[in-house]
Amino acid sequence: MPYLEITNVTKTYGPVTAVDHISFSVESGEMFTLLGPSGCGKSTTLRLIAGLEQPETGEISARDRVLASAEAKIFIPPEKRGMGMVFQSYAVWPHMTVFENVGYGLKLRGLSRAVIKEKVSHILDLVGLYRLEDRPGTLLSGGQQQRVALARALVFEPEILLLDEPLSNLDAKLREQMRIELKALQQRVGITTIYVTHDQAEAMVLSDRVAVMNGGRIEQLASPSQIYENPQTKFVVDFIGKVNHIPAKVLEIVSGQCVLTATDADQARIECQAVDDIRTGDSVIASIRPQDITIHQAASGTETNVWRCSVKTAAYYGDHMEYQLILGSQIIEAFSSPSVRAKPGEAAFVQLDANSIKLWKS
Ligand SMILES: Nc1ncnc2c1ncn2[C@@H]1O[C@H](COP(=O)(O)OP(=O)(O)O)[C@@H](O)[C@H]1O
Ligand SMILES: [Mg+2]
Repeated sequence: MPYLEITNVTKTYGPVTAVDHISFSVESGEMFTLLGPSGCGKSTTLRLIAGLEQPETGEISARDRVLASAEAKIFIPPEKRGMGMVFQSYAVWPHMTVFENVGYGLKLRGLSRAVIKEKVSHILDLVGLYRLEDRPGTLLSGGQQQRVALARALVFEPEILLLDEPLSNLDAKLREQMRIELKALQQRVGITTIYVTHDQAEAMVLSDRVAVMNGGRIEQLASPSQIYENPQTKFVVDFIGKVNHIPAKVLEIVSGQCVLTATDADQARIECQAVDDIRTGDSVIASIRPQDITIHQAASGTETNVWRCSVKTAAYYGDHMEYQLILGSQIIEAFSSPSVRAKPGEAAFVQLDANSIKLWKS
């Protein structure tokens, strides 16, 4: 049985439909991520779950308790939902120590000093701040402030943790480290978590499942590997990692194999797997990721999906190379091992892996 269930929920702001009839459910202990570009409705969805917004259609329930229902006119206020929330703009109170920051909410609830001490110590231990409890808020690094914000949410022992881009104020290196820490923490606590981010790498690393959102709707909901390896829409392909889109025309389809000519790439030939709704004569887009293209500096024996291109740019990243290659007016991005060292202006042969090509109607 799902732990949290969102059914047909909509929220508009004037003419803007921020969340458009979305449905999904989250399992107990799951790390579930809403991923999508700015403005796609991630925060609004989270705020609806938290009870900071009311749905105009549909229903939200947790463990069979209805939290909000537009039809039944039910609305449980945020403080009665058992949820902890951390926003992007978490504010650590500078005039308080780490201990006071985390214990303040418990004090307001009138808990005894002994109980507060026990709960706060336990949470600080959990988030790795146990030695810093007396440190003032002003003397904390970005990562430490982030942990304080998390500890403040966790100290109430919420049933569900809602995190809205909690790492986006941190610099790139710290963000990568905190991703891994956050994932480990979530697993240790075993708390059902809904995570919001526009950063696809973050979503991949952290999540059990990801809902990719676009224009207030969910485009695809699946595990990170399914989203990456088997994207169901062109939007998802585009949003998750780099991709080449090659306009093409279907020449023929023979026993499950599709032969295309690349319209912008001097009519170069592409062979790939056929898909159901694509027919001979259709205009299509063939999508392929840069890492699914290999580069050779000399012609090899194979001919299939091998194009002779000219190198436009070559960028050295130490562990790999990133190339831009041209054929006709088509630019192709390809990653290779650093052992391939073609220079701009030189000829190079790219080979498109047939099994990695996705076809879409254009
Ligand atoms: N309080 C608000 N008033 C008016 N429009 C809003 C409000 N909150 C969000 N929106 C609009 O709703 C859409 C979704 O916003 P949001 O959920 O914040 O997206 P995200 O978190 O994915 O960036 C956007 O077009 C945004 O401008
Ligand atoms: Mg947002």
